[in-house]
Parts: sequence; C-alpha cells; structure tokens
Amino acid sequence: MTKQLEKHILKLGDCMNFKEIILKAKEENYAIPQFNINNLEWAKYILEVCEEEKSPVFLGVSQGAAKYMGGFNVVVGMVNGLKKDLNITVPVILHLDHASTFELCKNAVDAGFDSIMFDGSKYSYEDNVKITNEVKSYLNNQIFEAEIGKIGGEEDGVADEKLFTSLDEAKDFISKTNIDMLAPALGSVHGIYKGEPNIQINVMREISNETNLPLVLHGGSGLPDEVIKECVANGITKVNFNTDLQIAWHNDVVEFIKNNEDVYDPRKVISSGEIALKSVVRKYIQILNSKGKA
Ligand code: 13P
Repeated sequence: MTKQLEKHILKLGDCMNFKEIILKAKEENYAIPQFNINNLEWAKYILEVCEEEKSPVFLGVSQGAAKYMGGFNVVVGMVNGLKKDLNITVPVILHLDHASTFELCKNAVDAGFDSIMFDGSKYSYEDNVKITNEVKSYLNNQIFEAEIGKIGGEEDGVADEKLFTSLDEAKDFISKTNIDMLAPALGSVHGIYKGEPNIQINVMREISNETNLPLVLHGGSGLPDEVIKECVANGITKVNFNTDLQIAWHNDVVEFIKNNEDVYDPRKVISSGEIALKSVVRKYIQILNSKGKA
C-alpha cells in the first residue's frame, strides 16, 4: 500500500470516529464546543485547554480566517503539527465554518479538513438544497453541516440579517439532503447581541424530536449560561464560539500594551491574552458538559 493511500484510509477512519463522537454527545445530552481559530496561538491555547479538560473539540476556521492564515493547507499543517508536538490525545475536528461556495468546500476537503459547513443562506432555498447536495457528493466521510434560514449578526466582518427557520423547512431540507448536522436560525446571532437574546427553544425541540439530527447553535458568545444549557437539553450538539474569545483576548492585550509600551516582542504581546482566552475556553467546556468526554 502506498504511503498516500495509507494516510487517506487513516483520515477516513478518523472521520468515522468523529461522526460517532457527535452521535454520542447527542445521546448523552452534552455538546461539543467549536472554538474558532485565527492564528497559531489561538489554536495552541485552545488545544492545550481541551487536552487538560479532556474535551473533544471542533476547531472552526472561517473562510476569512483561512485566507488570513495563508490558506487551507497552512491551517491543516499547523493543526496537525500542534497535535503532534503538543501530544494532543483528545479528538480534534478541523472544521470549515460558513463556506459559501462549493469550491471552498472542495478545497478544504482536498487540504484535509475533517468537517465542512456549507452555508447556503445567501442563496434561494432551492439553490441551497442543490449546492448542499453537490458538496455532499464531493465529500469522503467528512462531517457535513448545513444552514437554513439566516443566522444574523456579523461573521468575518460582514453583517447579515436574521431569517428564522421553521420546523417544516427543517424537515423538508433534511429529507432532501444527506447532512450530519443542521444549523437552524432560531434567534442566535454572530458577534455581539444587541438587546436580550431570544432563542426559539420550542422550535429547536420540535426540530430535534422530529428529525433526530444533531443541531448546531451558532452565536454562542454572549448567551446566558442557562440559555446555552437549555439549548443543549433541547437538541443542540455543537455550540460555536468566536467573539467571546476575541473580546477576552483583546481586553488583556490592550491592558498589556498600555502598561508595557516599550515591549515590542510579538510573542509577549500576543501571549498577554493567553490566560483570558484560555479561561473562556474552560468556561464553555464546563457549560457544555464536554469535560472528560474525550
Ligand atoms: P460568536 O460570534 O457568538 O462567537 O459565534 C461564532 C459562530 O457561530 C461561528 O460560526
């Protein structure tokens, strides 16, 4: 067997286990965190905490973040290198977040991503179904997440309006596509909440009960702890966090720079946000109850 084929089979084996990890979380009523990464340091900090807490983790990479880091191959190489050099033993699922085209999904799969989200929310419903199916037919065994409706707020610096998902639409979409996870738009938003978050828990519960598909909650940052727990009790199997990590990191870095204007070593500047970022990661692992599940 060639080295290439061996590597490929190993990769498929990983993805199989990853799907089981999601199903186990759903069955046992906890959720797996997705923490979005922006650079090497974030990936390292997140992996270190997940290893300490023995939590499986999705490392989310938006298309903008992938571009910022240099491209999908850079991200895959970096994450694989960190897993090896830091002796990470917990499951790490490298996930493309909110890919808006077939091409992006294809490129991430080719580079070695374990999990793909196609976000067809900017297309018509019919086109969303069509492209979701096209992406699915390209996948080997990667976890596949799709979105219907529109999760509002700001992602990669671009603002989007909210459009709620209905039970009927969710059932129809799931019957026409072969996805592993659904991200319904039920009131959560990316970025900072303006006013009180109002999540449609009843619709969430109905979608979960009637389709039995693991559901994903986007816009986890800024939601009260009790609301996140209620979502997990009502069908949410993955919760995505980005903004809270950014804010915590930023606050401490600003403070550091204010007090250390003459420090120019980037390692010192960037890592001044490490403790704050790590404490957010640890907090959400506790809330989702994924500690010790790896
Ligand atoms: P937050 O902006 O609430 O952290 O959400 C991130 C997210 O859902 C990424 O897909």
